Amino acid sequence: MSEHNKPWDSNQITREYFDSLLVEMRHIDAVIPSTKLELYGETFDTPIMMAALSHLDNVRENGMVEMAKGAHAANAVNWAGMGDEAEISAITATGARTINIIKPYADNDYILRRIEHAERCGVMALGMDVDHSFGGNGRYDLVLGEEMKAKSLNELKEFINSTKLPFIIKGVLSEQDAYKALEAGAKGIVVSHHHGIMNYAVPPLYILPSIAKVINHQIPIFVDCGIISGMDVFKALALGADAVSAGRVIMEPLKKNGSEGVKDQIIKMTEELAGVMARTCSRDLKNIDPAVIWHRNGW
Ligand SMILES: Cc1cc2nc3c(=O)[nH]c(=O)nc-3n(C[C@H](O)[C@H](O)[C@H](O)COP(=O)(O)O)c2cc1C
Repeated sequence: MSEHNKPWDSNQITREYFDSLLVEMRHIDAVIPSTKLELYGETFDTPIMMAALSHLDNVRENGMVEMAKGAHAANAVNWAGMGDEAEISAITATGARTINIIKPYADNDYILRRIEHAERCGVMALGMDVDHSFGGNGRYDLVLGEEMKAKSLNELKEFINSTKLPFIIKGVLSEQDAYKALEAGAKGIVVSHHHGIMNYAVPPLYILPSIAKVINHQIPIFVDCGIISGMDVFKALALGADAVSAGRVIMEPLKKNGSEGVKDQIIKMTEELAGVMARTCSRDLKNIDPAVIWHRNGW
């Protein structure tokens, strides 16, 4: 099997789905579009956010802080995944408006302490990647020696009720979990398969319209996995996302040019997005008509 033909690989399936979506054009009455994002009472220049990455020191020295600086310079939302308290403090000290995704550690008291620490650092929101509790063998995962555990609805409610900040559930890939996220009191969800944590995972954009129906504009919907261009971002927004996260696509620019590279990559993708919005008569992020998306046969 060649490197590029892995029919089970969720990243490959997700790319195929992005490429199966076509976009009609609408020119009459079109205007210069706005890509401004309103999120949790703050305004950003773009709906393209950093993904909740971690351990970027092997990509670039001080990689997580460099990424935060780049997001801040582009007036984009920064996200941060697993990392110790000192790293979260250093990331937020850059001034980047940051969402901290805390792992589903087995020890709930530790999670509550991490929530408190993130609050003290002034994060704009926090959350949990509920899709990273298991390894592929059906046992709880050990992530860098730290034991994980699946969380019940009641445990999620306890975390959510422990903070006044918006709490986001990352790793929703079913209507069932979307209903549960609402019931738990989440203030946002990330539709994601965690860059292919399981084979044959449904592409986030494929299931997004069904999840958006469940959420029904009650809380913001974010999407990640495989977003590499402004066109991908447009398709996600058209199908029901309020904003997206980009992870692996910023790695190379981060490696080459640090925070400048990250900033340039966000701006480039935002301009591509604006280009598609202009040609589809989409005046702003709230006015992208899902009917501009056409599905190629076969999906
Ligand atoms: C190096 C790396 C580290 C990551 N660490 C975390 C993490 O700590 N917490 C988390 O929720 N997701 C983590 N992720 C997953 C990303 O947040 C995101 O869901 C995934 O990479 C899909 O987006 P992408 O295709 O744009 O990279 C990590 C991804 C990468 C590539």
